[in-house]
Amino acid sequence: MSSDVSHKHAIPRHVAIIMDGNGRWARARHLPRTEGHRQGVHATRAAVRFCASRGVEALTLFAFSSENWRRPAGEVNTLMGLFVTALEKELPELESRNIRVRFIGERENFSGKLRSRIDEAERRTAGNTGMHLVIAVSYGGRWDIVCATRRLAEQAAAGSLEPGSITAEMLDAGLSTAGLPEPDLFIRTGGERRLSNFLLWQLAYTELFFSDVLWPDFDASELEAAFGFFARRERRFGRTGEQVSRERA
Ligand code: IPE
Ligand code: IPE
Ligand code: MG
Repeated sequence: MSSDVSHKHAIPRHVAIIMDGNGRWARARHLPRTEGHRQGVHATRAAVRFCASRGVEALTLFAFSSENWRRPAGEVNTLMGLFVTALEKELPELESRNIRVRFIGERENFSGKLRSRIDEAERRTAGNTGMHLVIAVSYGGRWDIVCATRRLAEQAAAGSLEPGSITAEMLDAGLSTAGLPEPDLFIRTGGERRLSNFLLWQLAYTELFFSDVLWPDFDASELEAAFGFFARRERRFGRTGEQVSRERA
């Protein structure tokens, strides 16, 4: 692959991360799982700084899935508490870095306190012009697609939309990630090779990077490796390699 090819795609516009492995990180140290989540916050801060400094336009982080409500109540409560305190603590830095914060997921299930912290973070950063930081909490890819479908079905039922005229773009516009570029690079830490109901629709053409490193240990050098992997991909979007090279020439 020629150097200009790598250069062209050197920086992903949108990075989506499943931050996995906190529990196992703690277990390996004979600590409670919640200690792993606490440590994970440091890795999250480092990832936000890294991506913002590289000029990434959007970073989407999977912090808590629709299915994570099935965990023991104590762990769920600790996680929710951590979201509140991390938001409080990190908001000034996010503001000073010109970052725009957006939460995606079913917020109806959150405490009033968490909801007001989320509202505040979104409100205070809404006018920023830097990186979009999208935090997926109580999020599921299927839920996202169902919500978007429901919106289109309501319009069709009201007679303002012809079912036969529905396009992929229309469904896309109803998703919680509307307005953001599609993810270019997906990263999952912690060794699992699955999507766990993350951005199902949005990941259709994303480059997938899996790392065995547990999230609390996932530092700038690991991110560098993921970005290096991305820069070496040839993104064909269905075309042949020859077509892609010709267009680049
Ligand atoms: C990811 O770490 C954080 C959340 C899902 C909230 P895990 O808690 O899933 O850690 P492992 O996979 O059990 O090690
Ligand atoms: C996925 O991790 C969700 C987040 C990292 C927030 P899990 O650890 O919950 O995924 P599964 O259940 O092992 O697939
Ligand atoms: Mg896990």
